[in-house]
Parts: sequence; structure tokens; C-alpha cells
Amino acid sequence: MAGSNPLGHGRIAKADSATMAEAAAALRAGGVVAIPTETVYGLAADASNADAVANIYRIKGRPDFNPLIVHVPDHAAAERLAQFDDRASALAVRFWPGPLTLVLPLQPAAPVAAAVTAGLPTIALRCPAHPVMQAVLKASGLFLAAPSANRSGGISPTRARHVADSLGAATPLVLDAGPCAAGLESTIVAVRDHGWQLLRPGPVTAAEIAQLLGEPPLPVSEARIEAPGQLASHYAPSRPVRLNATQAAPDEWHIGFGTTGGDDNLSARGDLAEAAARLFDALHRGDASGRAAIAVAPIPDDGIGAAINDRLRRAAA
Ligand code: TXA
Ligand code: MG
Repeated sequence: MAGSNPLGHGRIAKADSATMAEAAAALRAGGVVAIPTETVYGLAADASNADAVANIYRIKGRPDFNPLIVHVPDHAAAERLAQFDDRASALAVRFWPGPLTLVLPLQPAAPVAAAVTAGLPTIALRCPAHPVMQAVLKASGLFLAAPSANRSGGISPTRARHVADSLGAATPLVLDAGPCAAGLESTIVAVRDHGWQLLRPGPVTAAEIAQLLGEPPLPVSEARIEAPGQLASHYAPSRPVRLNATQAAPDEWHIGFGTTGGDDNLSARGDLAEAAARLFDALHRGDASGRAAIAVAPIPDDGIGAAINDRLRRAAA
């Protein structure tokens, strides 16, 4: 298959009770395992184990100034790692389990390796809804640091095969639960003393957060990049990407939307949630198409469309 990793593959195993128990044991022993979540596949390791966390950075080729999200089984467990004020608690009650990551003040005695937070006084926490990630969290009894399971800067994985192609044999076990339902990484919200910031748009929209907290977000200064997912170039295929393309040249692979057709279509019926779920898969296919470039049809900016366009702008940068 095009995009196949020349260094070989880890084992892709259907997620069932036996392979989830195997994954939990491997994680307790300090290993890394790729695990599906409702957003994208994550590359998980014990957040308290410095060597295991170092392995995540090494396998992804991730710069060490880019901190990791820690996955927790529930809100109560999360309070061991971070300080929740009333606003943070309200967000957790409303949106967890689900595709929302909260950046909160780190608890002084939090059992996480220093590399997880990359020296920041805050920690990013997420309680995932996916039953496989939930089962592995509970079976292992660990807090799991898990970035998206792709080479740093590349297209995020929404299928087990994407993980194996991107990370190769360095990831010995990939639990397979089929394509991810949301298909875009979690929304990241930082709860600050004086308000809140949207560090990464995602499946939970800024409007939903603003409505719950009763105030609009504070601006995020570009000069101080706290979420390198927000770096200008990210999620990048190996070919140039052109946006707002109502038509494509013969050497371009055209990713359509709605009635703007193409070689592929994110959602023929113009459904943005469906388009989000298919976006990274479509970019992977465009990358493997053999065409010189990828052209993407215009996507409306409403609701989750804002997160789709955020990822597309970075893929094109
Ligand atoms: O949906 C998701 O969030 C997926 C799945 C696997 O859970 N994970 C994910 O992780 O997208 P990753 O590492 O690809 O993106 C984590 C983002 C990065 O942009 C990182 O800079 C930011 O979270 N981040 C982590 N800790 C932070 C902190 N203390 N302050 C600000 N940003 C932080
Ligand atoms: Mg990522």
C-alpha cells in the first residue's frame, strides 16, 4: 500500500477483552501502545514513567517543548493531577467523557513525569468517551499520556492502519476499533485566572464553551505558543495542499464537499460532522494518490467547520 512504512509494521490487533488486557499489561510494564479514542488514535504510555514518556517523544519525533495530554478515567481521578475551580468543574461535568481537553494548574504532587508537561505549571487533561480507551485506563489503573499516534507534524490517524503506516514497528501493538467517530482532535480550553482561551478548536465548539462559562474567550497570543498543535504548519501531507478549490487541475487530487464533487467527497450531503470524521482519512488517501498536489473544496466555517478549516489551513501552510 502507498504510504506503507518501509521499516515494517507493529501488530494491528482487533480491540477485544484479551488484547485490551494485553495492552494494559504492556503499559504497566512501561511500554507504549496505540489506542483508539473517539477523536483520533493516541500513542499511550504511563504518564508517571519518565522512560515510557521519553519513548513517546522518540517514536513520534516530537520536539520536547511540546507537552502531552494526560487521559484520565473520570473527573475524580483528574483532581489528583490538576486544580479544578468552579469553571473547570462545570466544563468537566458538561463535556466529560468526551472530546474536550482542559489545561489547568498542575497539582504540586501530581504523579506525572516532568516531560509530560514540558516544564509548564499547567497540565492538559482529557477524559475520553471511547470504550476501548476507557477500558484500558481502568484495566491498567494508570494515567495515560497520549498524543496523536503519528509522526510529529504529519496527518493525524483516524484508523489503525494510519498508525502502523506512520509509526512502523516502533509501535509494537495497535488496538484496532475501526475509524474514529469524531475524526478531529479534542478541543483544548485553557482555564485562566482572568478568563478562558481556546488553544485548539475541535468537536466541542467555542460557542458551546462560551455559553456554559458565560463569557467569550480571551485572545491567544501567537507569540507565546503553548499548544504546538497551533503551529502554522502541522497535520501536513507530503504534497502541497490548496484550499477553497471549487475545481482541480488534472495533476491535483480533489477532495470535495457537498455538491462540489471531486476524486473524493468529505460529505456529499454537506454534513460537517461527517466531513470532520472523514477529513484525515481523505488527506491520507490524497497523499497516497500519486497526484502532484491536493485541492480541497470550500468548507463552511460554522460549528465544527471551524475546526476542519483550522486543520486544513495548517495542512496547507
Ligand atoms: O483528541 C486528542 O486530544 C488526541 C487524542 C489521542 O486524545 N490527542 C492529541 O494529542 O491530539 P497531541 O499531543 O497531538 O496534541 C496535544 C496538544 C498539543 O498541541 C500540546 O501542545 C497541547 O495539547 N498541550 C499539552 N499540554 C499543554 C499545556 N499544559 N498547555 C497548553 N497546551 C498543552
Ligand atoms: Mg497531534
